[in-house]
Amino acid sequence: MPLVPMTELAQQAKREQFAIGQFNMNNLEFAKAIMEAAERERAPFIYGVSEGAMKYMGERYVVALARAAAEASDIPVVLHLDHGSSFESVMHAIRLGFTSVMFDGSHLPLDENIRITRDIVRVAHAMGISVEGELGTIGGVEDDLSVADDDAHIAKPEEAIRFYEETGVDVLAIAVGTAHGMYKGKPHIRFDVIEEVARAIPVPIVLHGGSGVPDEDIRLAIEKGVGKINVNTENQIAMTRTIRKMLQEKPDLYDPRKYLGPAIEAMREVVQQKMRLFGSSQKA
Ligand code: 13P
Repeated sequence: MPLVPMTELAQQAKREQFAIGQFNMNNLEFAKAIMEAAERERAPFIYGVSEGAMKYMGERYVVALARAAAEASDIPVVLHLDHGSSFESVMHAIRLGFTSVMFDGSHLPLDENIRITRDIVRVAHAMGISVEGELGTIGGVEDDLSVADDDAHIAKPEEAIRFYEETGVDVLAIAVGTAHGMYKGKPHIRFDVIEEVARAIPVPIVLHGGSGVPDEDIRLAIEKGVGKINVNTENQIAMTRTIRKMLQEKPDLYDPRKYLGPAIEAMREVVQQKMRLFGSSQKA
């Protein structure tokens, strides 16, 4: 089927208490691994594409790959801009064919973040495109965005509720103690913040930095109101580990298909395991 917005999936996730996986796409191998996992699990999912990944892959290829995957399947697939940095960047993604966008105004003063997100929601909704907003500061490194742990701020529930009421986003990312990348220790997730915000708004909370979060924390976060979880680093690690091992074992290997094939398999396994953990398996 054609690519779809996140709107209905987000509502279904909230109603049925599961989380849709956003799996970041960085190249053809990611696109295939994620789609193959979804087919096996019958799980709807979101291809997340950051501005950095778009630059790397070339925007035409991103949209063509996502469309090719979705159109050959009956699984609902969303193509979502991850951490859009400006009104212009978000509009550009919509024109390219993205069916969902995130505007990350979390570094801006609250009023400005609300104003720009509200403008984006107005335009995007008029075109049938879903929108994710962000509040608080998520730590770690993603593309060119790097936030030291000391600068990561947990979202304030009353601000998050106001943000939702004044913007009308379809899903809301709030900083609750997770970070992009793997963790040195165990993340300290503020389940109380998730619960307080989720109770007050009719849309799911988004958990960024899903890699390396213990399974029991993921389950509890979903129980408290998380309905979308982003995963990138664990797939990157699965791919790179597989390739590194194969090249070490067989230094004469030169055909990329010989090591990229197993790398796809390794990522597919990661994604399938996440889809089961998130409860999105069999929801397509
Ligand atoms: P991880 O790389 O930690 O899985 O985070 C992904 C993410 O949140 C993308 O926005």
